Amino acid sequence: MIPGPTERLRFREMTDADLDRMAGLLGDPEVMRHYPAPKSRGEALGWIRWNQRSYAEHGHGLWIVETHDGAFVGDCGLTWQTVGDERLLEVGYHVVPAVQGRGYATEAARACLDVAIGSLATPRVVAIIRPGNGPSRRVAEKVGLRFERETEVRSLPVVLYGRGPAPGRLVLTCGVAGSGKTTYARSLEARGWLRFSIDVELWALAPGEQDAERVAAGVRSRQQEEIVRALRHGRDVVADYASWSRAERDAYRTLAASCGARAEVVHLDTPADEIRRRLALRRGAHADDVVVDGALLDRYLADFEAPGPDEPDVTVLRPQDVTAAATER
Ligand SMILES: CC(C)(COP(=O)(O)OP(=O)(O)OC[C@H]1O[C@@H](n2cnc3c(N)ncnc32)[C@H](O)[C@@H]1OP(=O)(O)O)[C@@H](O)C(=O)NCCC(=O)NCCS
Repeated sequence: MIPGPTERLRFREMTDADLDRMAGLLGDPEVMRHYPAPKSRGEALGWIRWNQRSYAEHGHGLWIVETHDGAFVGDCGLTWQTVGDERLLEVGYHVVPAVQGRGYATEAARACLDVAIGSLATPRVVAIIRPGNGPSRRVAEKVGLRFERETEVRSLPVVLYGRGPAPGRLVLTCGVAGSGKTTYARSLEARGWLRFSIDVELWALAPGEQDAERVAAGVRSRQQEEIVRALRHGRDVVADYASWSRAERDAYRTLAASCGARAEVVHLDTPADEIRRRLALRRGAHADDVVVDGALLDRYLADFEAPGPDEPDVTVLRPQDVTAAATER
């Protein structure tokens, strides 16, 4: 697929015959101001070859952009890029200095976004830009990409602009059995959040055997994949988990960050006496009613690492707050 002609521009695939033009563009210190260094002629040939591989593998890459009378403008197109562990479709553009500021990059990038929606059926497109690159940020904004976040690519700070579903939010409940996690998580579920519970799946697999750790590990890793998918599709997610250790909470923070989402920990800070009272009423009738005896509760309480003041994005809820959240439904 190649974008069709626009009012002033046309697109075509790069060939080795473009080496002089591409070496001139990518070797220009002004054009490459926001890159580690201008590219040598050999590197410019590598760039052409990289795009040719991309045309062959994906049907798109950076294309040569020229005016209708054949004057070289630069390149613009769609390539796959990796940010953290995310693979993102990026719109990229480079315009020769002599014709910058005429709206060419904007016109070309718009045509590429139309291709992404029309031929690739991919609404999600990003631009990965060095923070100080004002013209590039402006082009991204003009074609409708929104600033999403600051991040790093190959250890260099970048800003990510994007279009398509913004990532959802992740709330991670945190507390021992009986602290009110599920009541709180269900109150979010009632407002359209997706709730993930390891207990519910374990109960379905092996009722009454909630401590089957091997099975739990499998359920957890599958739920992680589903959580990532949901966040990427813009769904808000509540992980109805105990999240008893800082390491576990940090792992989910990293997971959320990998898809551009942010994790918030909701610590159900319920006094031990109240927890004991609640657990004494349990009968083992369903996944939210798992029997936890006194010795097991003591172990849970001893192992529990409450979020400290240094932990980011933590909300502490007392029992009355949870009741209030639940009745807001
Ligand atoms: C980024 C680049 C492709 C833009 O090309 P262009 O054809 O000049 O872009 P356009 O004319 O469509 O739009 C440029 C916009 O940036 C604005 N701009 C120019 N200098 C700017 C600056 N220092 N800070 C903020 N905005 C600036 C222009 O005013 C214009 O916005 P406007 O239409 O609202 O006035 C071109 O500057 C370039 O090739 N830069 C070097 C390569 C590069 O960095 N590519 C992007 C890699 S992420």
